[in-house]
Amino acid sequence: MTESTYVGAVDQGTTGTRFIVFDHGGQVVANAYETHEQIYPEPGWVEHDPMEIWENTKSVITQALGQAGVSPDQLEAIGVTNQRETTLLWDADSGRPVHNAIVWQDRRTTDRVEQLEAEGQVETIREKTGLEADAYFSATKAEWLLDNADPIKLERSRPEDIRDRAEKGDVLFGTIDSWLIYNLTGEHITEVTNASRTMLYNIHDLEWDDDLLAEFDVPKEMLPEVRPSSDDDTYGTTDPDGFLEAEIPVAGALGDQQAALFGQTCFDAGDAKNTYGTGSFFLMNTGSEAVTSDHGLLTTIGFQRSGEDVQYALEGSIFITGAAIEWLEDLSLIDNPAQTAELARSVDSTDGVYVVPAFTGLGAPHWDQRARGTIVGMTRGTRKEHIVRATLESIAYQTRDVAEAMEADSGIEMTSLKVDGGAVKNNYLCQLQSDIIGSEIVRPVVDETTALGSAYAAGLAVGYWDDVDSLRDNWQIDREFEPEMDADRADNRYARWTEAVDRARDWARD
Ligand code: G3P
Repeated sequence: MTESTYVGAVDQGTTGTRFIVFDHGGQVVANAYETHEQIYPEPGWVEHDPMEIWENTKSVITQALGQAGVSPDQLEAIGVTNQRETTLLWDADSGRPVHNAIVWQDRRTTDRVEQLEAEGQVETIREKTGLEADAYFSATKAEWLLDNADPIKLERSRPEDIRDRAEKGDVLFGTIDSWLIYNLTGEHITEVTNASRTMLYNIHDLEWDDDLLAEFDVPKEMLPEVRPSSDDDTYGTTDPDGFLEAEIPVAGALGDQQAALFGQTCFDAGDAKNTYGTGSFFLMNTGSEAVTSDHGLLTTIGFQRSGEDVQYALEGSIFITGAAIEWLEDLSLIDNPAQTAELARSVDSTDGVYVVPAFTGLGAPHWDQRARGTIVGMTRGTRKEHIVRATLESIAYQTRDVAEAMEADSGIEMTSLKVDGGAVKNNYLCQLQSDIIGSEIVRPVVDETTALGSAYAAGLAVGYWDDVDSLRDNWQIDREFEPEMDADRADNRYARWTEAVDRARDWARD
């Protein structure tokens, strides 16, 4: 009997790292997960230890294969998906990071972005990269690292040497996809959706942009080669003498939100999904046309297959949704995320309370780096149940903010939205979301669509799957949620939400 074969996917997210083994039907065969430390050196700063992330990656791969009794040789390919924008530099000789990675949520470069605004660079950045000038993206993080990383950590370097060494390609830049591909294969490569989040990559010319590299003083020699999301040539193979003791092609990668778009089989223009993780990321495929947003959305690269045109997407990036539930847990208002539904249901409404979880500023469609978390409408009668309910509602309202912008930009009225991510296990939230945006919400059977998307990208590249039609056949509905709330009631509550957002704006001062 021939042994079954599989495709594996590393899903390296903001809070943890997962490895999933998928079969040909796109079903999960094994799944292992480990969290890593969130490092907050100063208010508004967020870092991760790249070595911890790599150690966890090896550990979850080994665990998942062990769970399923799958030998590494049974993996036909590995795909990578990752938290986007998070930036690190490492020494090419030792392979050691020169500093912790600066996480996408980190706000340390807010002043630098305001300087760009003052210099009138915002429009140029938007035209070249499709992005809003914001500390969210990699460019100002890379600049900060080149200016501030501790050179003592660089072997054989003199204190002033980081930029000099970067100019010789001895210090390398990467987002997390690059870091993992480098460690898995030894190749310094990124893929096109991740490159599109750096604010250094021209999404129309499909190359690193010399003007932006000069603006941020980032040497070209330190940048990875940009490859398609699904690469028939493969990025490289794992080292047969390494931890897996097998030579497996690493053939696909996508930023995690684009991976979810791919995993939800949103292959055609107009297809859209919303993923509920640490934040929520609402993406609509716009085909081979890069649609410019007039309503605060990003234009970004959706995916690219070998030899094919890049497919673009419009994106609404909401920074804090699932993380707001973690915040409730940190405050001991809940014991676990599942409890939110029970507490929210125990009251009829929030009693006029609105929570705006702008903990790291506001992303789409507001783009306010200085917004901060706000609770309005509390009375002496406000109880924790109201706060919990208002926090859940904030997830639904923020999604409506983006959905309205998406409809206005695309001219397409949304009747149905595919959802995924950890929080959609919560039926209460799915129903609430459907009520607040007034559209059907569709939840698929396999909710690990992020990992699935990168497995699909890698599997297509090596011929494990023949074409995207076979992937469409794998996609199945778990449950649909139809709006039950009266539309006027939803509109009134949403109108109050927008007032609450106004109160949260422009709050932080240096
Ligand atoms: O842009 C940030 C995003 O990629 C993070 O996703 O799922 O790790 O919160 P997640």
